[in-house]
Amino acid sequence: MTETMPPSLKRGVGRILRARGVWAVPALGAAFLLGGCEGDRIQSTLHPASEAAAKIAWLWWVMCGAFTAVFLLVMVLLLLGVYRRPSGEGTGPPLGGTRFVILGGIAMPTVILLGLLIASLETTVALRLPEKQTLTVEVIGHRWWWEVRYPDQNIVTANEIQIPTGVPVRLVLKSADVIHSFWVPRLNGKMDMIPGHTNTFWIAAEKPGEYRGQCAEYCGLQHAKMAFYVVALPPEAFRAWVAERQTPRPAPEAFLPGQEVFMQAGCKNCHTVRGTAAVGRVGPDLTHLGSRISLGAGEIPNTPGHLGGWIGNSQRIKPGNLMPRSFLAPEELHALVRYLEAPK
Ligand code: CUA
Repeated sequence: MTETMPPSLKRGVGRILRARGVWAVPALGAAFLLGGCEGDRIQSTLHPASEAAAKIAWLWWVMCGAFTAVFLLVMVLLLLGVYRRPSGEGTGPPLGGTRFVILGGIAMPTVILLGLLIASLETTVALRLPEKQTLTVEVIGHRWWWEVRYPDQNIVTANEIQIPTGVPVRLVLKSADVIHSFWVPRLNGKMDMIPGHTNTFWIAAEKPGEYRGQCAEYCGLQHAKMAFYVVALPPEAFRAWVAERQTPRPAPEAFLPGQEVFMQAGCKNCHTVRGTAAVGRVGPDLTHLGSRISLGAGEIPNTPGHLGGWIGNSQRIKPGNLMPRSFLAPEELHALVRYLEAPK
């Protein structure tokens, strides 16, 4: 076939096949794939931490294997086509003839696609919400953070979902504005959060740990900065967490100047701190902010320094979020940060 190629095309193909640089593309791709998600709070479907996620990972590998095999087969056939010299003068029938087309073009794809369909259906069945659930958590997507409510326990938090290990947790998923998608790759698949509609979903974690989640549906400017954590606790630690959250304590006296700033500076119009006059629901509930892993929905670590920077001008960190700049005096800001980070 190479004989019939125009010389310029022949030179081009030869150059590509000879160029060592061509291997840089798959090598770089593999490096990205393997290295992109590493970290101490890994967020990857391929590191499942529940039965459901393991099933999804299994399907991923089945599909990856099947597609790789088909791709390699097609590449081998392509190279054969490029390099094989036609027998005789090239006027005879093409290699394999009709039988080759029926087997390779109809029978084989049918078998492969049917196999993959069966594997997908099997996984879908395995992901059905288990009959027995011990806990219901309501998660509401906002641009760009997560409201988390435990209706039966009367607990409200944000950007962090505490669950007990070893049991399926029922999730009631809603949206306050646009379509978001709830996804904790290590615990289960994705489920959309649709305005005016409630979706039911579930997660379970086999072992205690922190599992990072991420909004999986483009929802505006800061979609990529809409993350959260599922914190799986052993059952007794979870019960202790619930008991602690159900009895909010007033802030110790030393932190009251900060509370004063919180009430005066307008924070209370959008945020709730339980046990105070602050009952806003535009932004996250800040009652136990000090105990959270991150600020800004997974964007920055929860430290006094970062919190001060966030309050001062969160627009620099997460442009477009609903929180305006604040113009507090340094001592006011300091007192406010101390108050918000204080145990309550
Ligand atoms: Cu919320 Cu993307």
